[in-house]
Amino acid sequence: MNERDTLKINGKGHLEIGGLDTVDIARQFGTPVYVFDEKHIRDMMRVYKDVINEDYCGNGLVLYASKAFSCKAIYKIAAQEEIGVDVVSGGEMFTALSVGFNPDKIYLHGNNKLVSELEFALDNRVGTIVVDSYREADILDNLAGERNIKQNVLIRVNPGVEAHTHAFIQTARTDSKFGFSVSDGSAKSMVSYLLNKRNLRLKGFHCHIGSQIFEKQSFILATEKMISFISDMKDRHGFEAETLNLGGGFGIWYNDEDPKLKLDDYRDYVKSIIDVINNKTKELNLKKPYLVIEPGRSIIGEAGITLYTVGAIKEIQGIKKYVAVDGGMFENPRYALYQSKYTALLANRANDVCTEKVTVAGKCCESGDIIAVDVALPIAQSGDIMAVLSTGAYNYSMASNYNRNFVPPSILVNAGKAEYIIKPQTYEDIVRNDIVPKRLK
Ligand SMILES: Cc1ncc(COP(=O)(O)O)c(C=O)c1O
Repeated sequence: MNERDTLKINGKGHLEIGGLDTVDIARQFGTPVYVFDEKHIRDMMRVYKDVINEDYCGNGLVLYASKAFSCKAIYKIAAQEEIGVDVVSGGEMFTALSVGFNPDKIYLHGNNKLVSELEFALDNRVGTIVVDSYREADILDNLAGERNIKQNVLIRVNPGVEAHTHAFIQTARTDSKFGFSVSDGSAKSMVSYLLNKRNLRLKGFHCHIGSQIFEKQSFILATEKMISFISDMKDRHGFEAETLNLGGGFGIWYNDEDPKLKLDDYRDYVKSIIDVINNKTKELNLKKPYLVIEPGRSIIGEAGITLYTVGAIKEIQGIKKYVAVDGGMFENPRYALYQSKYTALLANRANDVCTEKVTVAGKCCESGDIIAVDVALPIAQSGDIMAVLSTGAYNYSMASNYNRNFVPPSILVNAGKAEYIIKPQTYEDIVRNDIVPKRLK
């Protein structure tokens, strides 16, 4: 247990989150349900903000990467914590703006932003757009001109650093749909292209080297390469970047193969980045850039759990045991996408000794509908409440209505209270946009 532990086992042997009994939560709100601990979220936002304030004279901004979990309440919390957000679609932008989020502190990403998304961003004065293609640069320049706006932009750059993470979530290799590479000269060409755009103001560069990364060295290397690139662009084009956005990617604990980091460990990641910036800018005679970081998973991931009710249990003699729950790939597609690993426990019998390893399956008509494999559990029984841990990031945000299942509701726990931040869907929601053409009636 460390100071970030939101989970405890109470006197009844039940799992608690944020001081609330998860069995009571399951009874009150039903299952499956996503549950988030607000204190944990705020602590993580603060640790990143504090390190920039204390170790970099406040010359920067933390953006919560809202693709990890997007809903109105999370943007409200980010606004209260005085951080910014990164968004990747009109939907995320709309959600943030709908709760009055300061558009200046919104950064818009995406490798193929729609014209309508760019228009929406400009019409709502979104602070910074991270340009990811020539087409986007042309369209954005025209749209900004039509509106008499000089739009702040960054260029997404691939510094060519390979983070030690799962190949499917690598984004910064030269072979990537994102960004422009330093190694093949395309980033350099994009700089001169953008400097000639009348309605765009190039503020600097962005990179994101991957996700679920624990290797401090990869962040250090990426920062060094980005500062060298800034220096190179100053020499070639007389353009000195004011802003350096280093993306997100800090890892979290999913199971015992992952380290369980403390707040200080996250502080250390950012401190090492700051050290590199301080040393390299001095060496290369550059100004210290405005530092932006975009953590998503590390802010929200461990703050969230999913509660299920165990249903069918099936043992294939000599092969494996399936414990099926009332969720599945429609609310957590991460195993199906990249064989993600999770820890699960029986929330109503959290002190029981684990005696077997099982496969936790969902209820979808799909044999790949698995939530986790090789999960150590006590002998589960139908009706047990199962908690799967560290499901706060990229679970709800990747959920769908596959098989016309409901996307589960989300609950925020704070100061001994649990309340909806995303309410349950109904059968009416499922058919809301369906139309039966007249000729079929
Ligand atoms: C551009 C960008 N920034 C930030 C993030 C957040 O990364 P993480 O959730 O690993 O911190 C991502 C994730 O894919 C990203 O693509």
